This record gives sequence, C-alpha cells and structure tokens, in this order.
Amino acid sequence: MTTPDPEIIPRDLRFGVKDHPDPRWLGGEQAGSALVDAFAVMLPEGERYFIRALKPFLPQVTDPELRQDIQDFCAQEAFHTREHLGYNAALRSLGYDVDRQEESVRWFFARFDTPLARLYLTCAIEHVTYALSRIVIERPEIMDKAHPAYRRLWRWHALEEVEHSSVGLRVLRAVTPGVPGWKRYILRCAALGLMLPGMVGLAMISARRNLRATGGPSGWGLWRAALFSPGWVRRMVPTMLAYLRPGYLGRNDCDAALVAKARDALDAELAAA
Ligand SMILES: [Fe+2]
Ligand SMILES: [Fe+2]
Repeated sequence: MTTPDPEIIPRDLRFGVKDHPDPRWLGGEQAGSALVDAFAVMLPEGERYFIRALKPFLPQVTDPELRQDIQDFCAQEAFHTREHLGYNAALRSLGYDVDRQEESVRWFFARFDTPLARLYLTCAIEHVTYALSRIVIERPEIMDKAHPAYRRLWRWHALEEVEHSSVGLRVLRAVTPGVPGWKRYILRCAALGLMLPGMVGLAMISARRNLRATGGPSGWGLWRAALFSPGWVRRMVPTMLAYLRPGYLGRNDCDAALVAKARDALDAELAAA
C-alpha cells in the first residue's frame, strides 16, 4: 500500500552558511563535518542536472498534477542550488578543494547528457538524497548539536527532498510508455548501481583530501561517521533496497509522517531564529 504524495512546497529561505565557515559545524567533530561537506559540494552541480533532466519532459506530460509537481520540484531544487553555492563558498574559504570536486561531478554528468540518461540518473540520485534525508528527519539528534545555520539548512533540505522524492520516477514512468517494465527496471537499477558507489566514493576521497590539506584528523573519523556514528552509509541501506523493488515509484508509506515531522522541526527552527 502507498500513501499519496505530500504536497511539494518550494520555500524561498536563506540560511547564510556562506557567512559561517566552520570545519567543525557538526557537533564540533571535524571528520564528521567533512564527510557531510563532501556530499554537499556535489549538490549545486547535481541539482542543476536534475532540473535539466525533468524540465524538458514537461511538454510530454499530460497529467496536470505531475506537471505541477515537476514545476515545484524545479523551484525547490533552484532554491537548494542557491543556498548550496553559498555553502560551497564557505568550504572554499576553509581551504577545501571545492573546485576539483565540482569538476569531477561536471565531468561525470557530461558523459551522461542525453534526455533519458539524465532522467534515469536523476531518479537514482534523488533516491540517494531521499535516503540521507530520511536519516536527518528520523534521527533529529544528529543535527541537534550542529551550528544553527547548517542545522536549519539541512532540516529544510531534508524536508523538501522527501516532499519531491517520487517526481523523477513518476516522470520516467509517464514518458516511457513503450518501454517494457523489465527494461526500465534494469536501467534504473543500473543507474543506481553506478551512482551510489560513485557518490559515496567521491565523498570519502574528497573529505580525506580536505582533512589532509587542512591538517585535520586521520581518515578513521570518516569511516566512523560513514559506518557507525551516525553511520550515514549503514543507515541508508534499508531505504536503498526499496529501490530494487520492481515497479517502485517512490511514495513510501512513511513519507506523510516524515514530512509532517520535518515540517514541525523546520517551523520550530524558523520560530527560534
Ligand atoms: Fe535538493
Ligand atoms: Fe532533490
């Protein structure tokens, strides 16, 4: 059984991370912060790619609800891009090699720049961001000790990723009516198989490089953050497995409760700001 999609609400909010460069923003822990930062660096390039993936399919989509969802998805991702460009500027000022990592992401996306390749990869990456967002929402204690600007940004971003998590998959279904289900299944699982190790590997390598370049702690802290505390990669596993279900279209049973919880958390953040 699935629940209906929660409403997708673009929120034009600013968090000013650019003005608060802090290598230990996540609970005073440099390695744990660097791992999240290395994931964050990929977002502006990624989010522009997602918009380029979905927007061109608008003329082919006839369902008015899905058309509106594409537009709201693109609006949310555009606001995310703006805030994460500021985040990347903060990381640059810490001496992190943001340009090199962004160049790797651009190089990768340039290899997959046809309409359908963009769409399959966007569905896969959106599922990765959905899995990470679930962790942020289900385990609020992870962000409780974060610097307020970063904490507010991640609570906002996690909420909106869950709100729009099914849009890519529903567009894929709508614009490939002639593609056999088994073929669509193999291609979307292959896209996930390509993206997930690529994203985790690049985040780990970039975080290690940034810690070394700035005299940070050893790589063990990165493995600890990835696998144990908070265990980003380990905690993603159950959500990632859902993507392997044939016919998976997003819209998990827990999404409505997740969105309600995340909206309450964001409201509390904004009231306290
Ligand atoms: Fe986003
Ligand atoms: Fe997204």
